Amino acid sequence: MSGEDATDGNLEARLREQAYFRPPSKFVGQANATDPAIYDEVGDFPEGFDRYAELLDWDEQWDETFDGSNPPFFEWFVGGQLNASYNCVDRHLDERKNQTALLWEGEDGEQRNITYQDLYREVNEFASALRSVGVEEDDVVTVHLPMVPALPITMLACARIGAPHSVVFAGFSASALAERVDSADSDYVVTIDGYYRRGEFLDHIEKTDEAMAELDDEPEVLVWNRHDEPRADVADSYTSVDDLLADHRRDRVEPVSRDAEDPLFLMYTSGTTGKPKGCQHRTGGYLAYTAATSKYVLDIEPEDTYWCAADIGWITGHSYIVYGPLALGTTSVMYEGTPDHPHKGRIWEIAEKYDVDIFHTSPTAVRMFMKWGPEYPDEYDFDFRHMTTVGEPIQPEAWLWYYKHIGDEDAVIVDTWWQTETGGHLITNLPAIEDMKPGSAGKACPGIEPAIVDDEGDPVESKSGQAGNLIIQRPWPSMLQTVYGNDERFIDTYWRQFSDVDSDDWRDWNYKAGDGAVQSSDGYYRILGRLDDVMNVAGHRLGTMELESAVAEVEDVAEAAVAARQHDEKGEVPDVYVVLRDGVEVSDDARERIVSAVEEEIGKFARPSSVVFVTDLPKTRSGKIMRRLLEDISNDETLGDTTTLRDPSVPEQIREQVQSD
Ligand code: PRX
Repeated sequence: MSGEDATDGNLEARLREQAYFRPPSKFVGQANATDPAIYDEVGDFPEGFDRYAELLDWDEQWDETFDGSNPPFFEWFVGGQLNASYNCVDRHLDERKNQTALLWEGEDGEQRNITYQDLYREVNEFASALRSVGVEEDDVVTVHLPMVPALPITMLACARIGAPHSVVFAGFSASALAERVDSADSDYVVTIDGYYRRGEFLDHIEKTDEAMAELDDEPEVLVWNRHDEPRADVADSYTSVDDLLADHRRDRVEPVSRDAEDPLFLMYTSGTTGKPKGCQHRTGGYLAYTAATSKYVLDIEPEDTYWCAADIGWITGHSYIVYGPLALGTTSVMYEGTPDHPHKGRIWEIAEKYDVDIFHTSPTAVRMFMKWGPEYPDEYDFDFRHMTTVGEPIQPEAWLWYYKHIGDEDAVIVDTWWQTETGGHLITNLPAIEDMKPGSAGKACPGIEPAIVDDEGDPVESKSGQAGNLIIQRPWPSMLQTVYGNDERFIDTYWRQFSDVDSDDWRDWNYKAGDGAVQSSDGYYRILGRLDDVMNVAGHRLGTMELESAVAEVEDVAEAAVAARQHDEKGEVPDVYVVLRDGVEVSDDARERIVSAVEEEIGKFARPSSVVFVTDLPKTRSGKIMRRLLEDISNDETLGDTTTLRDPSVPEQIREQVQSD
């Protein structure tokens, strides 16, 4: 069936009748991957991935594509050497030094066109500045920057001198920043005085000030300015990047040849237990895989204007704003602000202004656009040929709305499933080869071997439509190398449950994604969401344990449990159930202290949607809190099995209380 001629009222009906949408022929005619043979070629394990690595410039050719001799510490493009900054910047100069690399739009309409030549100059100067303050190869540099050009420039400057960066999303609080600096033993923090959010100049440096107070060993702090003059109060002990750069004008820094296996960056992410984990990504395999998926999945050409409206502070921005697109030499758009400021047409205004060809966003954003209504996109003249969604399952209604009102029924959509840990897309369609199916991420990417297993690790029959745990059976080049400084945790979190951990044959090792999935008879995977205690709030990954420990630190709180409540726009939001200490009265003050504890420990984006004071939490006889039952209550669903509870009446009491509130 063709989506091209779908008309107004019948999309829903057609979805029910026949779920596929063919890519428009004008898309297929120009796509980067059109021959299904790519699946066999790349799937010829492991050498099939050589063709991805060949998209890059190497200082030293690799001797061996894959070394699986020490599972799960797999190595890729062994013996090869390269520099990521060279691949994203220098190598484009001959052909396109005057082409825009980064097209930055400030929230207030300010604009910067950074050509590849400009980027080359700025990255070199900042790399030289970093060296001058003592940053050496392999030093971890923590980067706490919002969506301003300084962020990709800093990342590429770090990559140039072989210093792994650890970018902390700007929305994270001072405590979250301090924890990540400490965990990565990072001696350097790069930040900025402030930035704009909804018309307001946010003082960002104050988070660094507070983080410093929490750290035993104060790192060296480098501060960019959002304007020519600092607008926030910057401590004298910090180094101004502007002052520093004045001493490094026109400096050039030879890109350091890194081993393919040398780390390029750390990205902290929430897990089920304990503190966030520093996912460590390698240089060669990561860059090869993100460049290739940018080319074949996102269909990026150097001539395109490509806009991924994510934040570089998360993995999506690392892989698909900075590294993948710039490795291909395209023009990547960055936007500082929010989609509704100063008006709800802001995104489409930017799309029109820059004539964006490829657009990338999340289901949360699509649901928000849907709520605002089609009149906003309708007002602007833009024409996407390709659109992406990432981060959460997208409901067919939202997919259809995106397809119709944003894509004008004339753009392909790829629903890309992947994770911080996977570095790049693992399940999604190659858009000119497979038809689209709303709500399904699609087939495995070339060379990737997913499977679905039950909790014991026994295979669920493939293409059976039965739900189970999603695993990946074969290593791939952009998989995380380890959890920074904690190999045991790496094994425990991702491998132990579904692998034979005593085996030294890589075939016995299966990567556990932590997601539930089904594979339907056509081979398409539908992702059901996390099976563990990880929530997805507006596309931001949050561990319930992290939230709970923030709440537990509040004076007067005896116990707390967090449940994910379904939310029309944000996907999920956290509900906090709290037992106060004996004798403490329920009060607005306690509620406020709990909410601000979460904001302070994690960040405002993690703010609980409700705080429910209860006298007891549902617990098993061994004392384990049954969050699932709280989730049933939060979502107004039938209560699951309560027979194993110490006091089976607790959930019903809580439900009555919630309903009467
Ligand atoms: O549950 C899956 C969901 O997001 C989780 C990974 O989150 P994070 O590491 O923050 O990376 C997000 C961006 C890649 C996954 O375990 N997820 C991601 N993409 C999809 C998705 N769920 C359904 N469909 C997707 N396309």
